[in-house]
Amino acid sequence: MLGTIIYENNKIDLYKDKDDLLLSKSQDVSSSINAYWQFKFQDVLRPKDPSIAYRKNHNLHFIDAVDELIESQSDDLDYFNTIVQVFDDRGNLIAGSQYLKNPEPIDETSIKKLVQGKKVFAQMSFITISQKLVDFRVLTYPVIENKKLVYIVQTAQSLEWVLKSLRRLQISLLIFIPLTAFLAAISTSLFLANLILKPLKLLTHTARKISATNLEERTIVPKSNDEISDLSRTFNAMIDEIQKGVETQKKFLTDCSHELRTPLTIMRGDIEVLLTRKRDTSEYISIMESNLIEIQRLQRLVEELLVLSRIESAESKHEFILTDLNAIMDTLKEDWELFAKSKNVKLIFYPPTDGVLVKILKDKIQRAIINLLDNALKFTPEHGEIKISWGIENNNAIIKIEDTGIGVLKENLSKLSERFYREGRSDQSGLGLGLSIVRSIINIHKGTMDLFSEENHGFMVQLSLPVEH
Ligand SMILES: Nc1ncnc2c1ncn2[C@@H]1O[C@H](COP(=O)(O)OP(=O)(O)OP(=O)(O)O)[C@@H](O)[C@H]1O
Ligand SMILES: [Mg+2]
Repeated sequence: MLGTIIYENNKIDLYKDKDDLLLSKSQDVSSSINAYWQFKFQDVLRPKDPSIAYRKNHNLHFIDAVDELIESQSDDLDYFNTIVQVFDDRGNLIAGSQYLKNPEPIDETSIKKLVQGKKVFAQMSFITISQKLVDFRVLTYPVIENKKLVYIVQTAQSLEWVLKSLRRLQISLLIFIPLTAFLAAISTSLFLANLILKPLKLLTHTARKISATNLEERTIVPKSNDEISDLSRTFNAMIDEIQKGVETQKKFLTDCSHELRTPLTIMRGDIEVLLTRKRDTSEYISIMESNLIEIQRLQRLVEELLVLSRIESAESKHEFILTDLNAIMDTLKEDWELFAKSKNVKLIFYPPTDGVLVKILKDKIQRAIINLLDNALKFTPEHGEIKISWGIENNNAIIKIEDTGIGVLKENLSKLSERFYREGRSDQSGLGLGLSIVRSIINIHKGTMDLFSEENHGFMVQLSLPVEH
């Protein structure tokens, strides 16, 4: 395609040059003829024979004059490699350079055009006097006077050089273009492959460096906005998540061993001191009693941890069942009102008028509400008040538990649901696992838990659970 365009453009240029040259030659020849005839007619012929009309066609004197002129100039013309022939208005040869073997008259169709003043460009093959068949570019040029064709000038130049150049160009293009295209294709593919593979190589390199003990590495995200940059971004985000997970697990293990070690150390110390000498029965009983409290705490800790690990490990196996929240609240109401009463705290349930049907894991949600009620009761001093309300809002089941207790510092709210976190100034008897269990339960329901509080101004928890999963 590109080759054809280059070839055709060159061909047009070369032919145009030839045609321009032929046109100026023809114009030169015709003006020389006119000038010579003027001179002949005025200075040579008229004084001798004034009856000769000043016409050019079919005038023997004019034919002689043209013949003379062409003859005298033929050397110059040959020098420029141009053949010149002059024809009368019917296409019969009047004079011409002695170069062609059999000069032919001009054909009928060309004459028709010439009579209308049109120039005729053509490519023709002639046999020269040296018996060579040569291709010529030919211009047949009409000389018009008073709107009539008077005579015709034909100029021709050999196309040998033009055709040779075009053939050479054709060969070069045939070899050159496919070769260049091939080389360009190879270098482009190599360049592109390198461009695409570079970030992938980088990614592989980073992936190799990453291990459980080295999660700091990240791959460089290429600036391009394509699949590779997407992959690099996803890869980095995945490592971020893994790193977060591993760090949480590490912290959990550290906190867990700390929680287990404290009661064990206390019990061990007590027993070691007890065994240093013989003691009264009452002393043995007292140590046994305090050890029993520690053992109960340890047992609770192990149980709560088990609850947490079961919730988090078996997410996909849970079966959500359509349950009425009113039914859950009914089972809790009586007992919790009694607990509250014993602490001199007012607990008020605000049931909605309609049922609150929601797809949940009934035991787990019941457990979450108990943990929240337990906190509210634990952190609300005597004469305080706890309100619990629930209902449906925008396709979500909402549960609100609000108390008038000691509350927490606003800036610590986000830490409350971390495992083992307890506020320094509040009751330290808890394990600090209650709220993290609630959060895990809410997470498997794809719901949300929001905490609101201000120090000494009570505490409010709002759970929101999608009605359908
Ligand atoms: N209603 C509340 N009022 C004031 N502070 C609260 C309330 N609920 C939770 N907190 C604060 O959040 C901390 C974490 O609560 P969480 O239920 O996780 O642990 P805990 O109650 O201390 O122990 P556990 O529930 O494991 O026995 C509590 O120690 C307390 O400081
Ligand atoms: Mg608690």
